[in-house]
Amino acid sequence: MRILVTGGAGYIGSVVAARLVEAGHDVVVLDDLSTGHRTAVPGGCAFVEGGVREHAAAVLAGGIDAVLHFAAKSLVAESVARPELYWSGNTGASLALLEAMRAAGVGRIVFSSTAAVYGEPDSAPIREDAPVRPATPYGASKAAIDTALAEHARMHGLGAVSLRYFNVAGAYAGRGERHTTETHLIPIVLQVASGERGHVAVNGTDYPTADGTCVRDYIHVADLADAHLLALEHCTPGEHQVFNLGNGAGFSVREVIDTCREVTGHPIPQVDGARRPGDPAVLVAASDLARSRLGWIPRRPGLHGIIADAWAFHTASAAVGGPAA
Ligand code: UFG
Repeated sequence: MRILVTGGAGYIGSVVAARLVEAGHDVVVLDDLSTGHRTAVPGGCAFVEGGVREHAAAVLAGGIDAVLHFAAKSLVAESVARPELYWSGNTGASLALLEAMRAAGVGRIVFSSTAAVYGEPDSAPIREDAPVRPATPYGASKAAIDTALAEHARMHGLGAVSLRYFNVAGAYAGRGERHTTETHLIPIVLQVASGERGHVAVNGTDYPTADGTCVRDYIHVADLADAHLLALEHCTPGEHQVFNLGNGAGFSVREVIDTCREVTGHPIPQVDGARRPGDPAVLVAASDLARSRLGWIPRRPGLHGIIADAWAFHTASAAVGGPAA
């Protein structure tokens, strides 16, 4: 297939683009390089630099069978401070992409949705039929796109899949997480281990969890990529399908830091701090639907292995100097 990958210079988009090329697909990456890196785009992909709104129509007119839509803004705190950026950059740009797809007759899309659409869930693990009630503009901007996909499927025959990611980590084929503005736990802890930061702040120790810190479900980026390739094959005209992607096991912030100590051999100083606004106590996925409908089998579910891959990427990219993806 000839596939448009928006955001294919970013962390997750570049890993999925690499897997698509390995699987023999013809890939066009569209990315404005606002947070991604040109060097992360896999060899063998065509590359168009620019925004979805401005350039998607021209790329689609060149003949595209399916779209994988990763390009998005994804800083939760920024979304609270500047919601307009998320309504425009996420929801608005995605609506423009859907219109361009309709005009060009492109009928398949796999979309990067998020666990953030569930807000503070009533129970764990979270199934796809749990109430959608996002607690932040980031989650709301993604939930709105999920709704638009459902309606485009119903009224226009689109075949759409929303993949709701839980906490993605790890690295694949020299592509990993290293943002200019880093907010995610594992890369921050690894920056402490490599001496780029002095300590990690634990965001809240009074949550109703076993050790008082937040619990998350970590998924390896390569397993996440596998789910995208399967979702692409399962796009069905007129249907919007939704799948949660996680391993179904929760790890607390303290457990993640301890595992980073084991992997890196570094003491990793930590300082207990206040809660970060908007953080749910526990986010763990029920991914049975992805397993049964897509035939998805996570091959790297262990936290130790996920962190070991992230650490290998971190030390390699620090050695060559500067951010990768
Ligand atoms: N944390 C710390 N210290 C840090 C960084 C993070 O204690 O320096 C904590 C957070 O407060 C949270 C946990 O580690 O309790 C995980 O935080 P991340 O930022 O790594 O990930 P989130 O769970 O906040 O974010 C993920 C996705 C988002 C999505 C969100 C849904 O990365 O895109 O889940 O809540 F919006």
